[in-house]
Amino acid sequence: MAKPPLLSRMSRLAAVSADRAMTRASYFAVLVGLIGLTTLSIDPAYGISHGWVQALLRAALAFFIWEWLVRLLATWRTGTLLRYVLSGRGLVDAVAALAVPTALTAGAKPETAWLLGVLWLLKIGAESTGFRLLRRVMVQERSTLLNVAAMFATVLFMASAALHGLEREVQPAAFGTLPSALWWAVVTMTTTGYGDVVPITPLGRVVAAMVMVAGLAVFGLWIGILATGFASEMRRHNFLQTWETVSKVPFFASLGASATADVTNMLRRIDVPRRTLLIRKGAAGDCMYFIADGEVEVELPNGKRIQLETGAFFGEMALFDNKPRSANVTTTRTSTLLVLDVVEFRMLMARHPALAEIIDAEAKRRAQLNT
Ligand code: CMP
Repeated sequence: MAKPPLLSRMSRLAAVSADRAMTRASYFAVLVGLIGLTTLSIDPAYGISHGWVQALLRAALAFFIWEWLVRLLATWRTGTLLRYVLSGRGLVDAVAALAVPTALTAGAKPETAWLLGVLWLLKIGAESTGFRLLRRVMVQERSTLLNVAAMFATVLFMASAALHGLEREVQPAAFGTLPSALWWAVVTMTTTGYGDVVPITPLGRVVAAMVMVAGLAVFGLWIGILATGFASEMRRHNFLQTWETVSKVPFFASLGASATADVTNMLRRIDVPRRTLLIRKGAAGDCMYFIADGEVEVELPNGKRIQLETGAFFGEMALFDNKPRSANVTTTRTSTLLVLDVVEFRMLMARHPALAEIIDAEAKRRAQLNT
């Protein structure tokens, strides 16, 4: 018999929140493991806390093994075992669970084997949105990045050949071979500047100065490409997240696809903990809110309290009337809200008159109630 939709939605939600709890526990285990690893490498500290450090490391490792087995079992049950095992996340989970035990079993010294615990950090990399976005940017911008890398390699080889020619007689140890001149070129181009190898001929110094400037230019380009790509990926990611939230708010349900996209561009999604004062009575109004998920309490001027739930909006009165805020508004539970700043509020009013009418009517109704 097919599962009732409500039940299947509830079990999906339970699975999502279990997955989130597991991810949080995994981050905590990584932190515990890193504290253990760091202490293990400091002899005096390890000497006095030997038992604790061992306990921390073993606890972290036990967690990663348990987590991997749980995921293996869960994916086996749903018939997605192979996909999980071969996925980036599956591989990271396997490495986190197996690297240290494998090294210990192969006879590596415990201090060396536990060092492989740094691989646990991959778990954060695999889960983090930042790393995911960076990976996408690297893939999307690969040809531009490769072009800059080719420029880097060209300047690198030309500079090391020039310095090899100019300095090999006077500094044979540092510039006698092309590879040793390359070391100088890499250090200079990356503007690391160890100063362990420096040209001493006047012409050599001129080339060095040009290489340093070229190094800055190449890295500036690289950083610019990555930063621009990262920013546009971040915008895309935020847009999709906000779009998903907007499409769940009944207030926007009547909008077509292009109007939804337009409204999404005007809104900002925020997650707010419970008991957060969002609006203070008497303050100037700079935005209004839509409750995508959650609940807020409005403290009315007459002392009454009103709860507004998912789908409702608030903070519109001050924007319409250009008056101070009429009431305190506080979240009563963790809430996801869509924020419409005052400039975007004016745009929304102008571009979507049907929505403007609903908000205006509700603001008037509320103002009447409060008098
Ligand atoms: P604003 O005055 O900008 O800030 C406080 C908000 O509380 C107000 O906008 C309304 O959105 C909301 N509010 C005020 N009075 C009522 C009411 N009677 N019922 C529901 N919400 C209200």
